[in-house]
Amino acid sequence: MPEFSIAERVSRLRPTAVNQVLQTMRKLEAEGRSLVSLMRGQPDSPTPPHIVEAAVRALRDGRTGYPDNRGEPALRRAVAEKLRREQGLSYDPDREILITDGATLGIYAALGALLRNHGNVMLPDPIYDAYAGPITLWEAETTPVPATVRDGRFIFGASELEERWTTLVSVILLNTPWNPVGTVFTRDELTEILEYAGSGYHDHPVLSDEIYETLVYDGRPHVSPAAVSAEARERTVIVNSLSKTYAMTGWRVGYCAGPEPILRAMLLILQQSSRGPATFVQDAAACALSSDQDCVRRMTAEYQARRDVVVERLKGIPGVEPMVPEGGLFVMLDIRGLGKPSEDVSRYLMRDAGVVVIHGSAYGPGGEGTLRVSFAVGGETLDRGLDRLREGLVRLAGG
Ligand SMILES: Cc1ncc(COP(=O)(O)O)c(C=O)c1O
Repeated sequence: MPEFSIAERVSRLRPTAVNQVLQTMRKLEAEGRSLVSLMRGQPDSPTPPHIVEAAVRALRDGRTGYPDNRGEPALRRAVAEKLRREQGLSYDPDREILITDGATLGIYAALGALLRNHGNVMLPDPIYDAYAGPITLWEAETTPVPATVRDGRFIFGASELEERWTTLVSVILLNTPWNPVGTVFTRDELTEILEYAGSGYHDHPVLSDEIYETLVYDGRPHVSPAAVSAEARERTVIVNSLSKTYAMTGWRVGYCAGPEPILRAMLLILQQSSRGPATFVQDAAACALSSDQDCVRRMTAEYQARRDVVVERLKGIPGVEPMVPEGGLFVMLDIRGLGKPSEDVSRYLMRDAGVVVIHGSAYGPGGEGTLRVSFAVGGETLDRGLDRLREGLVRLAGG
């Protein structure tokens, strides 16, 4: 067989931590090992029936042709209405909203539109590791902004941004609620960051990934960075999807909202890549956004209860401290007291305790000393996983 050389830009791509761990898991399971996974951010509930029904109805109605490349008009209108209702933000559905195949393609298109060649994306450390892929593909680099833990939560502000800023920076990326650490930015914190992005010589666009927006706990509000001021709206591209909010990870549908010139450039990228999620999927998404949001409220209550169970069950282990997340699907365990690299700890837990979590260092150097425990799956799996996790960590703590 002839050997072809693979494009250099692709050879620099790395699988995400979840994909790497999945590979090892499958190997161990093929050898007959029983593993409980507490690692993925995939809600375990089925998509609510009224959304499934809307897709079936659309299929029956023959909604199977090419979608509008910007996204179906009804879905764009539903997104505009949702942003008005929830964030008081006004976007023109014909010019300022695009529909994408999940947040993943929205992030890809936004970075493609905004990144100069060899430009840098300033992003928090630690952070969702899948941002690295599109940044590499667009031949750009990252400038990590180390977060510090204050009052039990990871946070950073204008001074940390300024410390790391270089002339190469072309985009600031935010994720609120923040994967993996669970911080939900307050309006004041976002105002400070957005003012920084627009101050003096900076003038940076802000890419805001809000995919966990409804998974906020203890009555906290989700604030979009675009909503903190009129000026902030003009520099922010919101990226979101229905994956987590409506348990629709496999439907691959999301959306972006932002200033027209940026979205026009993003549309060109989308037209050369996907041309949008299936038409009947977009009809179902419009139904999800426009219907009563009771199913969302119930899911949020369920995930908050699971979060509390995880924190409670992992308390009192020597050298281990659960951090209470304000939002999202993960509890970070501070394991610095164990005095071991997080990757060694997660490897031990998988091989010797039969439970799979992700080491914090997978999300950047700032994640070292932590483990990410997902409560996206509940019930008996969560119960067994927590038993194994506790036993494994206690054994490790005992030497
Ligand atoms: C922060 C963050 N952004 C984006 C995504 C991908 O979302 P989607 O399924 O909409 O492509 C994930 C998935 O886990 C995520 O955690």
